[in-house]
Amino acid sequence: MYIGALDQGTTSTRFMVFDRQGREIARHQLEHRQIYPRPGWVEHDPLEIWARTQEAIQGALAKAGVRPGELAALGITNQRETTVVWNKNTGEPYHNAIVWQDTRTDAICEALKAEGLEEVFRKKTGLPLSTYFSGPKLKWILDHVPGVREAAERGDALFGTVDTWLIWWLTGGPKGGRHVTDVTNASRTLLMNLKTLDWDEELLALLGIPRAMLPEIRPSSDPNLYGTTDPDGPLGRAVPVAGALGDQQAALVGQACFLPGEAKNTYGTGCFLLLNTGETPVESTRGLLTTVAYRFGEAPAVYALEGSIAIAGALVQWLRDNLDFFDFSHHIEDYARTVEDSGGVYIVPAFSGLFAPYWDPYARGTIVGLTRYATKGHLCRAALESVAYQTKDVLLAMEEDAGLPLSLLKVDGGMVKNELLMQFQADLLGVPVVRPQVTETTALGAAYAAGLAVGYWKDLEELKGNWRAERTFTPGMAEEERARLYAGWKRAVERSLGWARG
Ligand code: G3P
Repeated sequence: MYIGALDQGTTSTRFMVFDRQGREIARHQLEHRQIYPRPGWVEHDPLEIWARTQEAIQGALAKAGVRPGELAALGITNQRETTVVWNKNTGEPYHNAIVWQDTRTDAICEALKAEGLEEVFRKKTGLPLSTYFSGPKLKWILDHVPGVREAAERGDALFGTVDTWLIWWLTGGPKGGRHVTDVTNASRTLLMNLKTLDWDEELLALLGIPRAMLPEIRPSSDPNLYGTTDPDGPLGRAVPVAGALGDQQAALVGQACFLPGEAKNTYGTGCFLLLNTGETPVESTRGLLTTVAYRFGEAPAVYALEGSIAIAGALVQWLRDNLDFFDFSHHIEDYARTVEDSGGVYIVPAFSGLFAPYWDPYARGTIVGLTRYATKGHLCRAALESVAYQTKDVLLAMEEDAGLPLSLLKVDGGMVKNELLMQFQADLLGVPVVRPQVTETTALGAAYAAGLAVGYWKDLEELKGNWRAERTFTPGMAEEERARLYAGWKRAVERSLGWARG
């Protein structure tokens, strides 16, 4: 028997099959369209995501030579915060999904701040009032799309993050699909109270959101199951859907960071550093998020501090797609290796404003330090380095919040194959950077959540036993050089902050 994991990310959807040792048996991955209707707006077509999901499931099973009946359970992990509203009788979305990177809700957030409500939201949800989260996106749809509010009040319009949208379809869709979410995804909406782990009436009222449209909040690993797959769906039979986690929380689980003080950094479209803080939520004073890390069955929820970086791999894609720098993202490393350093060039990729620790929706992308000396190689190198600098920003904030230095950083995600970036990261932080054998930790974490629920894996110890380091990058840079480079980055950030405010 195997476990299936669906990983629906910002730019692609993949389905993976894992065995009991956490080894990958097969995967199938498909990209979907990024829709940019205006500067700062980012949308996805939810039905395209559902179509890619079905193809990814069938493609991976065919490659693995695994029959659906050999899947003990299915776990789901997903891009978080991205907001979908659809009609429960037809499955038709009322609007494209508004993606987590979309900044159209800046006026909604500003208005709430002007009423002095930031602390109310932060205290209850652990989140700042930012365009990043689902609540303001949902309010935007309710306020701007004709008929949705009435449909929501009638109980016809459903809200969901992408986990909810896909679980609803997988478990039957309009025929009676389950309308559920997991506690980690719910913790990213600005609507869930971190202590009660339930929707908060006061916050719903402040944003004008009808409770009837919200999904039921369930544990991340659920022995009572989210439901079973529709035999008429892509699996062709009833398989238990038993686990769901936001993708960054899933990576924390996949990296087996089950003890307070353990942390991982995932380099994907964005970059997300999560530190397990145990069973008590820790408030941040340095611009980090307090979020739910996971909740397995009826055990108490475990919390995390998170440093969220909006743009990491997305900068490489931008160089590839918008500037035609190279045909394949991994070619960036070849160009970056043509030079010794960035030649004094810094890129601040503030395409969606800057997230942690700055939280400035008005920051915009900036390139500084250009001279005629600068080549494509310098720009490629500066792009990779920007990911490491942003990580240093959030790591420093985290060390101050947590009151202890991090002794090593576990890394994962698509960009960790880039050895130049990993070495620069270790050099810049001054701590070892450890890459595990399985870098698809996001899908693995979702598989773990599902497998734990149905007894495929016994306990966390068994999962820890599956984790193995593949390579450790040891810091080699002199302290003075580290300080000099980082000071340059901070000056570059200063130039990007507030730009769009005029
Ligand atoms: O919060 C957004 C995050 O979940 C997106 O992750 O991997 O799709 O960049 P990713």
